[in-house]
Amino acid sequence: MTEDFDVKLVESDVRYTPGPEYKADSWLGDYETAYQAFLADPDGFWDRIARELDWIRPWDAVKEWKYPYARWFVNAKLNITANCLDRHVKNHRRNKVALLWQGEEGAERIYTYQKLLSEVSRFANGLRKIGVKKGDRVCIYMPMVPEQIIAMLACARIGAIHSVVFAGFGVTALNLRIREAEAKVVITADISIRRGKAIPLITTVQESILNAPSVEHLIIYRRRKEPPVEIRADFEKDFYGLMEGMPSECKPEVMDAEDPLFMLYTSGSTGTPKGIVHTSAGYMVGTYYTTKFVFDLKENDIYWCTADPGWITGHSYIVYGPLAVGATVFVTEMTPDYPDPGIWWKLIEEQKINVFYTAPTAIRMFMKMGEEWPDRYDLHSLRIIGSVGEPLNPEAFVWYHHAIGKDRCPIVDTWWQTETGMHMITTMVGEPMRPGFAGKAVPGVIADVVDKEGNSVPPGTGGFLAIKAPWPAMFRTVYKNDERYRKYWETIDGVYAAGDLAVKGRDGYIMVLGRADDIIIVAGHNIGTAEVESALVSHSAVAEAAVIGKPDPVKGNSIKAFVILRVGNKPGDKLMQDLIYHVRMTLGPIAVPHEIEFVDKLPKTRSGKIMRRVLKAKELGMDPGDISTLEE
Ligand code: WT7
Repeated sequence: MTEDFDVKLVESDVRYTPGPEYKADSWLGDYETAYQAFLADPDGFWDRIARELDWIRPWDAVKEWKYPYARWFVNAKLNITANCLDRHVKNHRRNKVALLWQGEEGAERIYTYQKLLSEVSRFANGLRKIGVKKGDRVCIYMPMVPEQIIAMLACARIGAIHSVVFAGFGVTALNLRIREAEAKVVITADISIRRGKAIPLITTVQESILNAPSVEHLIIYRRRKEPPVEIRADFEKDFYGLMEGMPSECKPEVMDAEDPLFMLYTSGSTGTPKGIVHTSAGYMVGTYYTTKFVFDLKENDIYWCTADPGWITGHSYIVYGPLAVGATVFVTEMTPDYPDPGIWWKLIEEQKINVFYTAPTAIRMFMKMGEEWPDRYDLHSLRIIGSVGEPLNPEAFVWYHHAIGKDRCPIVDTWWQTETGMHMITTMVGEPMRPGFAGKAVPGVIADVVDKEGNSVPPGTGGFLAIKAPWPAMFRTVYKNDERYRKYWETIDGVYAAGDLAVKGRDGYIMVLGRADDIIIVAGHNIGTAEVESALVSHSAVAEAAVIGKPDPVKGNSIKAFVILRVGNKPGDKLMQDLIYHVRMTLGPIAVPHEIEFVDKLPKTRSGKIMRRVLKAKELGMDPGDISTLEE
């Protein structure tokens, strides 16, 4: 991210303006007015929001900013689960549905706020019983079942730091994340069910903990009844066995505002993923506020976010944000195209979903399948539809707005990151939308597009996406790598450099173009080129590998690998299949290259760094740009 980025935007004037009732009925009201009120008194703005929540002890100051370190709600004491659960049980939401879960075989499970509180408390007591204490790390590797959410909340109840690993990761990736975090407990399930098939998780986990000496217990949620998987050893525990006989009340741990709540690994530009650390108070306030205001959630809404809780989207907008607000959250493990590409629209009709949040990769897949699928169902319950994970291109925006939103629903295209914890840029409900543009900073956030010196670029110009002031849900560090944390704030002087390229439109709307670094976003999942390369190189036939992202009409990007073989190995289909299988087993199915090309040489700088930019330009038939550092 050192070269300036030269892009001039030819702007279209297309705007989609939602009906006036949207703004009139919204929590926010007028965007400009709200934004100016925030700018006039930033601390007062967040203070007012935080007061809507329950605290054990109030704060002495809203924030303390010692660049690049922030503390929010200084010296306050709280427990986020007391806000996500007890606050509603105490008030008027005790019998309200918190989680509405639907499994693949049509099975439905319903948790009211009271029931969820009792289950979380029992599991939390179980964790305490086996010795889990405040500050201990717990790794959660589970499919999208209610137990996954219960496990997360139970950790938060007792102050244990959860590290959720998406169940699509393989042995090496999981093992690395368990070892890096020194997890004391791993929570998993025997199987995940996808497209009518049971996919075993347990073997992956059992292998992953073999050389992870920190792990004292493995807790297994056994879904398969006939026959149930065996609990093999003393350190293995059955999920419900652990809850048996446990009281359904559990005193929440008193957490300082800055005590860590969770960590979540995200791909970086090195082979080692970054453990992004979020703390208690700021994260709670930031996700509560954005869930309520960006989705404009109302008391009787049924809300569905299609992400997996294993990603930050699930943490912030399935679990903590919506439950802090007291919403009814629909969760399902159903994939978008099984048993057919109408399933999600069928669920929206059946469950009368009001607010729907999904990813561009899914939208583009549906677009390809045609409007006849959504047209078979009645989608009139939808009020607001959202998008996250990568740029929502204008064609996909137009299709989503028409085929799903019926030319009526506002689209909130939300730009944010694992690091930001909460929505940062979007078009707030009621404001005119511009296809291709995410929008503007949400009130509470100061965002801009800057050059490499940190100067704001003029309208119509490209640059780096930057955040210019601290925000409550910002990450506080990278686990055991604070230097990496500081780098985010030191790459461009004085601002948080998000690592994205963006263009600012005439009226301040921001268009996000994509990553500026060696991270590829495939179907909304961040994949580090370095992680895939090291997986390939760990195969005995591979001497060297370089990985690039190639534009893909549905997935956004696909992975192409260039591989140099060790002497004595012959390129061919069999070896290609071997390599694909190898990456699948080590990193997991989400990181498997779509294409492998065997080569004799890779373009490198004189200092030996692979120039992926040159490979990519060649692959796409484009000008490679400045190649003065390329070795002969
Ligand atoms: C990267 C962060 C935030 C939850 C999901 C991904 C890209 C995310 C958008 C959007 C354009 C987007 C960015 C960002 N991204 N949302 N609305 N428009 N790009 O979280 O895995 O931390 O990835 O996703 O490139 O930097 P993440």
